[in-house]
Amino acid sequence: METKIFQQDQIDEAVKLLAAGKLVAFPTETVYGLGAIATNEKAVKSVYAAKGRPSDNPLIVTVSDEAMVSDYAKEIPERAQKLMKHFWPGPLTILLFVKPNALPKAVTGGLDTVAFRCPDDKLTHDLISKLGYPIVGPSANTSTKPSPTTAQHVYHDLNGKIAGIIDGGPTRVGLESTIIDLSVETSVVLRPGEITPQELSEVLGEKVLINSGQVEDQGVPKAPGMKYRHYAPSEPVIIVDDTSDFAKIEFNEHTGVAALDSVLVGLNVPEQNKFSLGKNLVDADHNLFGALRYFDDKQSIDQIYVQGFSGSEATLAYMNRLNKAAAENHFHVK
Ligand code: TXA
Ligand code: MG
Repeated sequence: METKIFQQDQIDEAVKLLAAGKLVAFPTETVYGLGAIATNEKAVKSVYAAKGRPSDNPLIVTVSDEAMVSDYAKEIPERAQKLMKHFWPGPLTILLFVKPNALPKAVTGGLDTVAFRCPDDKLTHDLISKLGYPIVGPSANTSTKPSPTTAQHVYHDLNGKIAGIIDGGPTRVGLESTIIDLSVETSVVLRPGEITPQELSEVLGEKVLINSGQVEDQGVPKAPGMKYRHYAPSEPVIIVDDTSDFAKIEFNEHTGVAALDSVLVGLNVPEQNKFSLGKNLVDADHNLFGALRYFDDKQSIDQIYVQGFSGSEATLAYMNRLNKAAAENHFHVK
């Protein structure tokens, strides 16, 4: 199969492919998603095949607006309405009870909930509203690899396996959406993202729990995807939490290092083994997956050191992804 690249004036062609049950990757403000019409079981199943994704890991349902949710959610509680009004379109995914038989089982993995997301991206908004149905939207990477933040990343992983990719340029945020579970009594953040638990709690006017590591709740899976190895290059990743430790690492031609410019400038490392995460945490969010992919593709690299951040709630999303990529491996002076 030839994978076509669509520019922004070619959305209609992409709509036709989706309507015919084909797979088309689409841009969002977080990462690129892999789209298939959510009401077609066969199309949805082929998403799992293209990604190599375990079949018990449910898919996000991507909508063009709030109104589309009511066709697929059992109900839209007041808490959900508040969050949609405030944060949509935007990088927040909301877990609600699914309307019975409204979606194929392959979408929800047989759970009684479904994750809704309304991305802040004009191309994707037009794509879904022209299609008239929601599209599933897992990140458009091969399962276990870092999520794609450019159309080129998607092409690298899925060329030949999907019908098309809509090129919307590099994504703004660079890390996936915050997921909040509203199917429970007290709202819980299952995956941290750009929108922080504190911001959610302020808008809801109530407590929001954080449980990004939670995989099971009394035997019921919560964000099943969180249990899998993720975001991982084939080489080991080591987190450097304290910037003063960079001076203690013995770099050689096989070590890669990803850090802020302010850290890289002082390091005696060949240029091609450095990857700049930018100037601050927002830049680092934007660049992390690109950095992991850069070193993953470099044959000569067999160890990757990546700068860690600590302190505010704003570091939760970055550290969540980095800890998974590194399997919690942090640098310690021997
Ligand atoms: O920013 C994003 O959310 C991106 C863009 C493309 O929209 N999408 C994304 O999808 O990150 P994915 O499939 O890579 O991650 C979705 C996570 C998975 O960990 C999955 O297990 C969880 O959401 N999830 C989906 N439906 C769920 C449900 N009904 N209950 C619990 N977790 C669910
Ligand atoms: Mg993913």
